[in-house]
Order: sequence, then C-alpha cells, then structure tokens
Amino acid sequence: MEKIMVETSPPLKGKVRISGAKNSALPILAASLLGTEDIILEDVPNLKDIEVMCEVLTSLGAKVEKLDKGIIKINSSNINNYITRYELMSKMRASFLVMGPLLTRLGKTKTSLPGGCAIGTRPIDLHLKGFKALGATINSDHGNISAYADKLVGDKIYLDFPSVGATENIIMAAVLAEGETIIDNAAMEPEIVDLASFLNKLGADIKGAGTSTIRVKGVKKLGGGVHSIIPDRIEAGTFMVASAITGGDITVENVITSHIKPIIAKLKEVGCEVIENGDSVRVIGNKDLKPTDIKTLPYPGFPTDMQAQFMTLMSLCKGTSVVIETVFENRFMHVDELKRMGADIKIDGRSAIIQGVDKLTSAPVKASDLRAGAALVLAGLVADGVTEIDNIYHIDRGYDGIEEKLSSLGAKIYRK
Ligand code: EPU
Repeated sequence: MEKIMVETSPPLKGKVRISGAKNSALPILAASLLGTEDIILEDVPNLKDIEVMCEVLTSLGAKVEKLDKGIIKINSSNINNYITRYELMSKMRASFLVMGPLLTRLGKTKTSLPGGCAIGTRPIDLHLKGFKALGATINSDHGNISAYADKLVGDKIYLDFPSVGATENIIMAAVLAEGETIIDNAAMEPEIVDLASFLNKLGADIKGAGTSTIRVKGVKKLGGGVHSIIPDRIEAGTFMVASAITGGDITVENVITSHIKPIIAKLKEVGCEVIENGDSVRVIGNKDLKPTDIKTLPYPGFPTDMQAQFMTLMSLCKGTSVVIETVFENRFMHVDELKRMGADIKIDGRSAIIQGVDKLTSAPVKASDLRAGAALVLAGLVADGVTEIDNIYHIDRGYDGIEEKLSSLGAKIYRK
C-alpha cells in the first residue's frame, strides 16, 4: 500500500491554483443523467471519487468521455439501467445522488443502502422523505433500497436539517416532476447553487438556490450544455491553513472569496494576514498563533470539511482552543492520530478542547477519512522528522495532485 511521506518543511511560499470542487462535480455528474443532449463539464477535478461517479454513469448507460484535462463530455440520451451496483455504492456514498435523477427520468431506481462511514451513521431519511412527498413508493429490504413512481408531482417539502445531499437529490427528482416543488430549510451551500445553475442551463426552472427556500417548476425534458465547476472552497481552505501553519506566504488562485468567509475570519483570528484580491487570496502566516474557537455549521457557517485541518493548526496555537462539531456526530477520528504526533486534545461529546503545544513530532499515522488525511499532511509539514501517512486513498478521493501542489510551494512530500 502506498504511503505519503511528509518531512519537516520550510515556510511554504508561492501561488497555487485551486481545482474544481469535488462536492459540486459529483452532484453535477449525477445530474447529467437528466440531459438528453451532449453535456460538457469543465474544471472537473482529477479525483478517485470523480472516477467512481463516471463509472456509475457508464454502468447506467451514459456515454462518458474525457476530452482533455478537466473536461468531460457526457451523453445520457440512452440511459437504460436503473440499478446502481453494490460495489460502486460501497466505494463512494455520493453514488446515492443518482437516485433522484433516475427516479424522475426512468420512473424507478434501485441501489444498495449507503450505510455508515468513518464520520458518522449518515442516514438518508431526508432524501427518501423528499422522494415520497413527490409521490414515489419506497421499498427497503436486505440492504437494498428502491423507489418507483408512475409520475412525480411537485409538493412542499420541509427538511428537518438542511442536508446538502437531500437538497440535491430532491432538486434533481423535482426538475422533471409535474408542477412546482418547494423545498424549505434547504441547504444553502455554494455547491447547491452550482447544481441549480447547471440544471437551469439544461432547461430546468429552479429559483432560490443559495437561500433556504428553493422552488423547482417541473419541465418536460432537459437538453445539454456547457458548464464550468466552481472552485473547491475546501481545497482552498486547506492550502490557506498550510500557509498559516508553516508561517508561509501562499496565494491561492481560482477561489470565490465569498465562499470562504469563515475560513478567512478564523485565520485572521489566529493572527494571520489575509489579503483578498479578486479571485485570489494571499495568506501570510505568523509565528505566534493565537487560539480560537470553532463551531461547525451548515453554510454559511464554518464548514465541517475544514474542522480537522483547523484542529491541526489549533494544536500549535499558544493557548486553549475549542471545536464544536454540530454537523456530523463522529468527526473526531483524526484526534487520536494527532495525539500520536504530540497534540494535546481532549474530546467531550461533540466538543474538542485543544491545548496548544510547542511542537509536533512525526509518527506513522492513518488517514481515517479525506479531511482527517489532509489534517495529517498539514501536521507532517511542521512535525519534527518524517511523518508516514497510511490509508492515503482517502486523500486521493478529494485532493487533486496534493503532493505536486504542495511541492511546488516548497513542501517536502512524496509517495512511497
Ligand atoms: N442527514 C440526515 N438524514 C439525511 C441526510 C443527512 O440525518 O437524509 C444528516 C447527516 O447524518 C449529517 C448531516 O445531516 O449529520 C449533514 O449531512 P449532509 O446530507 O448535509 O451531507 P452529505 O450530503 O452526505 C456533503 C458533502 C460532505 C460534507 C457535507 C456537509 C458531498 C459529496 N459530500 O455530504 O463532504 O461534509 O455535505 O457539508 O457533497 C467531504 O468532502 O469530505 C465530505 C464529507
């Protein structure tokens, strides 16, 4: 099994271009099943999760072609299969996002239940609540879940929690339903806005994406179009923390600064200089990092996907920081690994209390999930010695060229 090795690195300096957002590209690829003409997607990141989603689309009968770096052409005019195979579902939870498009396009869909993962139980009740409200019948047996409907009819759906995936799946199911669907307490993440703008290009009628009420008027059919994926705000945040933690000076390019407000605010609170300039942000680190507190929340709150990386940073802030994780119930798997590198962190339920230490030291560690893996890479940059990170397939799921990008900024990182 390949490992990522990270040596103590100098302050990182230079410019880095952020790739397209994984969490936008995945639902948009799923939504491509709704189009009946050619779709061209640009700035699609080169990631394992994207490969899996392309495999899912192909298995359902779509034609998927990689045209150039970051450019994918999809034609779903002849999709003929409504079943997502277990091995594809088990490789990636987001495969569940094809349910909404299949249900509305083919009238039926079947897949295995996604189950839990390292960051929590991750139920899908809200996705199913939406499908049912639109008139679908849901059956669940032996770990499989199927939904079917002769026709879907728009309705009012209130989400008990603004789930990103449920909002996406319901929007996708509603675009070809009869009449109007109104989703209340919808997720407001930028990735929802990107999905809606993609679908509107194909001929959908979606209003209110980015607010807590989304209105979808059903249309008869969607066509094709060209769409560029928005920049990945979490990849951007990860490189911004890399600058902060190494006392560096990194400019992250291709960012939408309004999407990363909480990250900018927290980096300023710990004492970094952050300079916004159009579609780039420069982060200048500081040797004397101050502690801060973080509470993860749905957008526009502090993103849970940046919690682990910030915890590494807080481990080196002078004083006590507190993290409260409110989005996932079990997203502290990185804590034990960071402790093995010398961090002083105590967990109490959904809170973590981080007492800053003078230094971290290298150790063999394991990435338990994608963002936990990123947190360990960041720790490795400043830890004494060589940090050996195992289970790096998690990192490859969500970071496009992480070693190349970090190396270009001066980091000592390689695979072994
Ligand atoms: N939830 C329910 N019922 C549901 C759906 C969700 O109770 O039917 C709960 C979950 O258990 C969780 C909370 O709602 O506690 C948030 O889940 P959400 O549905 O919003 O998350 P998701 O759609 O499964 C996406 C991202 C995650 C990101 C979360 C939150 C994708 C492919 N994944 O997941 O990204 O953490 O939103 O922002 O878009 C990552 O990139 O590392 C990652 C995990």
